[in-house]
This record gives sequence, structure tokens and C-alpha cells, in this order.
Amino acid sequence: MNRKIEEAFNDQLNAELHSAYLYLSMAGHFDSANLKGFGNWMKVQIQEEMLHVMKFYDFIINRGGNVSLKPIGAVETKWDTPLSAFEATYKHECYISGRINNLMKLAREENENAAIIFLEWFVTEQVEEEATADEKVRELRMIGDSGPGLFILDRELAQRVFTPPAAGAGA
Ligand code: FEO
Repeated sequence: MNRKIEEAFNDQLNAELHSAYLYLSMAGHFDSANLKGFGNWMKVQIQEEMLHVMKFYDFIINRGGNVSLKPIGAVETKWDTPLSAFEATYKHECYISGRINNLMKLAREENENAAIIFLEWFVTEQVEEEATADEKVRELRMIGDSGPGLFILDRELAQRVFTPPAAGAGA
């Protein structure tokens, strides 16, 4: 496997694990505040991140590379409001999108066609990741300080379920 790609993909695997860790922290924050719907939304988000982790894992292995796990950085444990947690989520997803774009640039420079095709799935996925978080930020801004509004949104977020991609899609 191309060594630069191997190293960069291992770094991204770590960044995806770090994302799961961040959302696990948010899930704990919401669940302990009895906002179980918000907690559920974050737990589904963890599953999304673990799917991303395993995609990088499989790609590295399939290309004959080595998976090398690194420490996962500490994450925040408290947010002042649900809005601030979702603003942090949106900001984090924009950061991850930037990382994916950098990986794509590297893959192009290295003429790694398999990596380019693999990363295309992530480019599309990040559009969705940003949009989903941004939608919640907008809803929470609309709700403002309304307790009933928060209560209704919590019920809605309780309905979120993890939907694995269809077999073969971006695998
Ligand atoms: Fe793996 Fe939420 O980006």
C-alpha cells in the first residue's frame, strides 16, 4: 500500500473514532439530563461514525496495509445548551469534511485511483452529515428557550434509527 495513503488513512480512522467518542460524550450529557431523544440521536451518530471507522479499516486491510491505532484525544463533557452541543456537532462535521477533502487531494497527487473512488463515498456522506447537524441547529434556534419546543423535539429525535448503507454501496 502507498505509505502516504496508509498513514493518512490511519489518521482518518483515528479522527472517525474521535468523532464517535465526541458523540458518546454528548449522548451521556443528554441522557443524564433526561433528554433521552437527544441522547438517542447521538447514539445513532456513534453508529454512523463506527461505520466510517470500519470503512477505513477495511480499505487499509484490503490494500495490504497495516491498521495502526493511536490514542483518542479527550473530548468536552458538558455543553451549556442543546443548541451549543449541536453547533459543536456541525462545526465538527465541517472539520471532518475538510479532512476528507485533504485526503482526496493527496489521493489525486499520488495517483491512487482506488483511494479516490473510496473517498468519493465520504464526500457525499459528509454533505449529509453537515446537513443533518445544521438542520438540528436551525430547529433549536427556532425553539429558543421554549421548554415545550424542546420536549417535542426530544420526542422527534427519539425516533432516529441507524440505517446501514445497502450492500455494495460505497463498500
Ligand atoms: Fe465520520 Fe460524522 O463524519
